[in-house]
Order: sequence, then structure tokens, then C-alpha cells
Amino acid sequence: MSKRACVRPVMGLVLALLVCGAASAAREPGKTAIASAHPLATAAGREIIEAGGNAFDAAVAVAAALAVVEPYSSGIGGGGFYLLHRAIGEEDLFIDARERAPLAAHEKLYLDDQGEVIPGKSMNGALAAAIPGAPAALVHLALYYGRIPLDRSLAPAIRLARDGFPVTERYLEMATFRQRELAADPATGEIFLDNGELPALGHLIRQRDLADTLTRLARQGTAGFYSGEIADELIAGVRAGGGIWTAEDLEQYRIVERNPIVGRYRDMQIVSAPPPSSGGIVLLEALNILEGYSLAELDALDRSHLVVEAMRRAYRDRAEYLGDPDFVDVPVARLTGKQHAREVAADIDLAKATPSSSLKPIASPKQGDHTTHFSILDGEGNRVSATLSVNYPFGACYTPAGSGVLLNNEMDDFSSRPMTPNAYGLVGVDANAIAPGKRPLSSMTPTFLVTPDRVGILGTPGGSRIISMVLLGVLEFADGKTPEAWVSRPRFHHQYLPDEILFEPAAFDDAARKALEARGHAFKLSTRDYGNMQAILWDLASNAVSAAADPRGEGTSEVWATPVMMGAELPDEAPTNDGFGESTYQPTLPAEDGSFVPDLEAFGNEAVPGVEE
Ligand code: GLY
Repeated sequence: MSKRACVRPVMGLVLALLVCGAASAAREPGKTAIASAHPLATAAGREIIEAGGNAFDAAVAVAAALAVVEPYSSGIGGGGFYLLHRAIGEEDLFIDARERAPLAAHEKLYLDDQGEVIPGKSMNGALAAAIPGAPAALVHLALYYGRIPLDRSLAPAIRLARDGFPVTERYLEMATFRQRELAADPATGEIFLDNGELPALGHLIRQRDLADTLTRLARQGTAGFYSGEIADELIAGVRAGGGIWTAEDLEQYRIVERNPIVGRYRDMQIVSAPPPSSGGIVLLEALNILEGYSLAELDALDRSHLVVEAMRRAYRDRAEYLGDPDFVDVPVARLTGKQHAREVAADIDLAKATPSSSLKPIASPKQGDHTTHFSILDGEGNRVSATLSVNYPFGACYTPAGSGVLLNNEMDDFSSRPMTPNAYGLVGVDANAIAPGKRPLSSMTPTFLVTPDRVGILGTPGGSRIISMVLLGVLEFADGKTPEAWVSRPRFHHQYLPDEILFEPAAFDDAARKALEARGHAFKLSTRDYGNMQAILWDLASNAVSAAADPRGEGTSEVWATPVMMGAELPDEAPTNDGFGESTYQPTLPAEDGSFVPDLEAFGNEAVPGVEE
């Protein structure tokens, strides 16, 4: 790796600052907006912006705080995707911090002697955990895109882990759902339960081991997680629980920067998640199908019918074609092309539902609202749309003793056996089969929407329903609605198989349901409202910024005026998608107190483990 520069010539920066600032003066909102799934995470992001950080520093703070206060949704034992937009250069980037299968994993890992899937094996315990990408992502964001040191942006999360956060209704709902599994692992039960029982509302969840692990990460960068003492602890804990991690697995973990999926729907540019997420491709395919119709001129019934038919066809292709692009060839251009949309839409009948069985064969959903999403826009116009996960609520419900790291069960996102549904009822074939070092296919869909006069940032948790929720949000944006409307819109979902429309009660009244049933659609009432969308709208014409957190969750959004510090510490040379040049990490802020003095050597400015070269 090339020597990473720590200090840029000040004059060059000032010049870049003036040029970039002048060129894009009209495109700076001058306000920051953060929408996240937990008030403490939103507050952590605000703290870091107010300390001089940019959207990417705030993303580190929000992601790390969510990892502490929403342990059922994401965590440093998990992974995720960050879609970034840098105002300087107007460039979109995608950070793939998806977990990776251990090198000892194989296609039959979760099968019995008869080749049947062993229930629960890919869901609970150490064997269900893939190698986490979340810690590497925090370091990567701080090193390459942030403006302040990682130990500053991680400070709020470390504080929350050390001092504790109060149990909320949502925490209780998730802990009730996974109580048995949480209690099954003593190290996990000790942290997330109260003497083996569900904690009371307001009870403080303190995670001192996690605070220590985060502190090591803050001081040492990826070396503070993927090697050394903590790595030994993680491996010993995983192996004691029947898992198969090795030192090589942790040492080999790399963040991958990928090109986002980019497409158009009418006058809107959509920028979204590429494989190993299915999100961007399925979203674009559905929008391409819908573009063939004048939705605005259709009544609500015809519109719902068409949206379902578009979801059905796009999710079908997900099952057949999508997997980790480093292992399988994904026909991205074809699937996101207008011609493919015309072909698959050819048999759509406005009067009649197309039975999924009449499409080329492939399979049934269960659901949860684990996984998390946040959206950020800073005063300079930098944007982050991030969806992060440990997969099922509380992941694998397994914590290697002493580490405080609750492990994901993302291995369940692979197809353990062709056409056998996973926890979300999603099926797949070889493209998403388990292989050593492979990333499991995801549905996470962090997305930007750009029209000549508006910018939208959105995403949500929700397993297989993520993509259909984002699709409905995009259509609300296309209709000129506010972020409140995108996040609160009643939802419905079709994922090809099972052949039914899953819906929230408010999505269809009786008359609409009967009319759609008469066209051949089957309905299934969702047992609960679902999703937790976090959204931001920047109106370029009025320079107004608004944000909204999904009313189904306990999240908060904030918008406040911030001074524009156009790139004062940003690099004059950006990393590329096929390897990284110089580090952009420049700890320029004065320390607030003695504990935040930037430690460049500890950060490995010579060589940064965890970064793809
Ligand atoms: N673990 C949920 C997803 O990645 O889609």
C-alpha cells in the first residue's frame, strides 16, 4: 500500500475549497438533516456534526450508536451497506461492508445426512455467524471520507455502551421475540436480559465489554478488531460455540467499494445498492416495468394492481439471478435495462393477476423489523443512505465471551439448499449458494433519488420487504409528496412466491380488496405494521430540507442550520473503485479534551488493515 498522506498542503486545499465552493454554491443546503431509528443515534450524529464533522463522520457516529442501542437491528458483529454522495465532485459511492462466509463454510453446512436443512442451524449460535464487516466500515468511513478522527466520532457510542441506554417498548418487543435464544447463550443473556428475564422498561442495558472493543477500534483502526487480542477472543468464543471462524477469516476481511446501481424513472435518477444486494436491481426492474404505464392517470386499483405485477416479476428475477458478484456473473445491465422490463411486462393483464406459477418457477415470507436504516444530509450537500444489519432480531443471539460483540446470523441469507425458503421465505438457486468467503445476497436498499429540483434519501429495514417498501417510497417521491408521506404510507408487498399480497390494514379497504380479488389477487393481512423508513428531502429550488422517521418505529429526525465548511479537510484526490490511493483521513480538529488527540500511527496511516487494495 502506498504511504498514506496525513497532511495536505494547506494552500492546495484552500484553492480546492474556493473552486469547489464557487462551483457548487447553489447546491449547498446549509442545513443538516439526520433521520435514524433511535433518538440516541440521531443525537450522536448531531453531536458529531456540531463538533465539526461532516455527513460521513456523522454516519460513523449514528451507525456505532445504533449498534449499541438497537442490538436487535445492527451491530459491530454485523455488516451493511453505505451509499455515499460526496458534494465535492458530485460523486456517488457504495461501500459494501457485507459479512462474508467463513473460509471453512461449504454448501452443506446447514444440511443433515439426508440433505435436509437443519432448522435453526443457520439462525442461532456461533455457526450462523458470518465474518462482520461493520467495524471495517466505520474505520473506512473515517479514514477516507470523514473529517475528524475515528476516536471522536465513536465517542458517543462508547459512552452509550459504557453508561447504558434505557430499555424501550421496541427493545422489549424484540427481546420477547428472541427471549429463548438470548437466554440460551449465557454471555448474551447476561447483557440483554435481566437475570434471565425480560428487563423492565427503563432498565439500563450496559455493555462494558462492547465499550472496550469499540475503544480498541477507535484507537487502533481495523487492527483493533480483526487481529490481536480481540480477534483471538472472538475466534475462541466462536469455536467454543461450535462455529468455524479462523484468524485468516478475520485478517482477510475487506471492505469493497462498488459502483452503485444507477438508472432512470421518468425525470428521476435512482442511485441504489448493487450486488451483493438485490435491492437496486429489483427496484429498478420494477420501476422500469411501471414506466410503461401512465400511473398518474390510473385509478388507485389499477395502480396497485400494476405495482404488484411489477414486484412479482422483479422478485422472481432476484431468486434466479442474484448473488455475490465476486462469485457469480450477475447480468446487471440486462436486468436493469428497459428492454428486459418490456419483455417481462408483456404478459401483464390490467384486468387479471398473473399467477406466479405461470412465470418461470421458483418460493414464502416470514418477517421482522430488525436491520436498521439512517439517512443524513449535511450542510455541504454530502449525503449518506445506510442500511445495516445483524439479520434476524439480535442476530445469532451469540456473544463470544468477553468481547461484547453480538454476532450476526447473516449466513441464513444464503440459500442453504436450492429453492428452500430462508427466514424471509426467499428462495434462490446456485447464484446464492454458500461458498467460502462469499457474501450472502441481501435485500438492503439504501437509495438516493435525484430530479432537476429535488434530492431524496431513503431506505428501511424489513428483510425481503425492504425493496417493495423503497419502491412505494420512490413512487410517493415521484408524486411530489413529503418525506412524512413516504415513511407513513400504508404498505403492501408481493415477492413472487408465495403468490399473495401481504398488506398492512390501511393499505386496502374492503372494496379495494374485493375488486383486486376479482382480478385474481390473493391477500394476506400482515400480523403487524412493518418497516422503519428514514427519509430526507432536499428541495433544490427553495433550498428547504425536511426529514421524517417512520411513525411505526421510535426513531427521530432533526433538521438544523449548519455552517458550510466546504471540504476544508476533504482530500484533493478521491479513492477509486478499483483500489485506493492516498488516505483522505485528516484529523484536523483540535481535540476537545485530552482523550481525543488523534493517534495517526495507531490508525495505521502506513497500511490500513481492512481496506481493499
Ligand atoms: N439480512 C437482511 C438482508 O440483508 O436483506
